[in-house]
Amino acid sequence: MRRTMVAGNWKMNGSLETNSELLRALVAAPRAACEVVVCAPFPYLAQARQLLDASAIALGAQDCSVHERGAYTGEVAVGMLAEFGCSHVIVGHSERRAWHGEADAVVAAKAQRALGAGMTPIVCVGETLQQRELGETEAVIGLQLDAVLHLLGARLPELVLAYEPVWAIGTGRTATPEQAQQVHAFIRARAHRHGADADAVRVLYGGSVKPDNAAELFAQPDIDGGLIGGASLNARDFLAIVDAA
Ligand code: 13P
Repeated sequence: MRRTMVAGNWKMNGSLETNSELLRALVAAPRAACEVVVCAPFPYLAQARQLLDASAIALGAQDCSVHERGAYTGEVAVGMLAEFGCSHVIVGHSERRAWHGEADAVVAAKAQRALGAGMTPIVCVGETLQQRELGETEAVIGLQLDAVLHLLGARLPELVLAYEPVWAIGTGRTATPEQAQQVHAFIRARAHRHGADADAVRVLYGGSVKPDNAAELFAQPDIDGGLIGGASLNARDFLAIVDAA
């Protein structure tokens, strides 16, 4: 039985003041039935760790270095994230793939680093609108996934996968539950083909998840929760999505 997860990706948002307000509201809410993760920007990890201390909400980062340590200016190692209490880290978000040229192999290597530090990588995959319109959705996601499967194959149940169609991120345009389910089923089948225990792998959906569409998406058999951007910055919206899970 897969445990549902709702993870908030704050992206490059927040301030000491607004984080404090948001996290206090999350901590004050009744304990959720699903797993809840908050992925904050690097400088705020210490603040978030402190505010989440006695709660069941886990802390995550939004990226990590592919290297262990050394002369990599601006990079943050998984060991550092672990020291700051991160149990999760997002890797391969489409914004990193698009703006920082992260290739599939780099994303897979980052996921491996995170596992090595005892953390759970949340590995994002997804197609652009153009790729979808050209009928390339499964080909694109297959390649993104294969890089991870080749490197980590049998360890797949230790990861969390997230399907985030690029055209649905921050656009208000959500994949329909049927569109999302179709891709989630494809992802699970692909993992199965590589010998991974596909039924144990959690696959989150991300892309304009809001309180009013969350329940319908999460009701799909292969959708195991959500990776939430914009709506994770508002306590009421985020908690409503957690409730829906
Ligand atoms: P939105 O929920 O703002 O569309 O962002 C989704 C996302 O990119 C989460 O990682």
